[in-house]
Amino acid sequence: MITAYDYSFAKIFDAAGIDVILVGDSASNVMAGHETTLPITLDQMIYHASSVIRGVNHCLVVVDMPFGSYQSNSKEALASAIRIMKETGAHAIKMEGGEEVLESINRIISAGIPVMGHLGLTPQSIYKFGTYSVRAKEEAEANKLRKDALVLQDAGCFAIVLEKIPATLAKEVSESLDIPTIGIGAGRFCDGQVLVMHDMLGINTEFKPRFLRQYLNIHEQATAAVQHYIKDVKTIDFPNDQEQY
Ligand code: KIV
Repeated sequence: MITAYDYSFAKIFDAAGIDVILVGDSASNVMAGHETTLPITLDQMIYHASSVIRGVNHCLVVVDMPFGSYQSNSKEALASAIRIMKETGAHAIKMEGGEEVLESINRIISAGIPVMGHLGLTPQSIYKFGTYSVRAKEEAEANKLRKDALVLQDAGCFAIVLEKIPATLAKEVSESLDIPTIGIGAGRFCDGQVLVMHDMLGINTEFKPRFLRQYLNIHEQATAAVQHYIKDVKTIDFPNDQEQY
């Protein structure tokens, strides 16, 4: 799984053979430049998701329910999920949290909407955690995560993202479930992996957590390309005779 937020990258990832595109609320960070995922709105998520859907032929598209679109009550949660499904054409939604959001998950799944869970580091709760460091290192939090994973599976979630937890815990949870886990910073024993496209393609080079593998350095290449373009325009090398009418 990889994140995408627009038509062009979704088209590249889909054609490259990715199984799942997540229209993550990380759009708040990497697309809009906010410090957290909290400011992004449901309308903005719907805009990103409908752009992604237009680029996809094969893969499953999952859309994050943004902060504030499901926390108040299950009726509002269902209304938000229905808007995402109706207005974007996406295939599933993702929600952060365990037992606390169970009523909303039940209601959304009852309406026929597939739900992906998300446990461990849940960035929408950053002001509760106070830090983006590894979660569930203490036994009490690990126990809650073990329990929440089973609760989400029993509720009918089709997969669970495990973010930034110890690899041993992710392995244990993955083995305890029949549904797949998708890890980010949760080690190699999850059933799948997810990365934020801006991090793995090196568009955003300031974020370098230990779990990240950077496959490209678009920041460096794009900077060099634009500097080359500026030089070519200033020296009247571009456009040349073949590049004009
Ligand atoms: O918003 C997002 O990109 C995510 C992934 C980090 C799992 O939730």
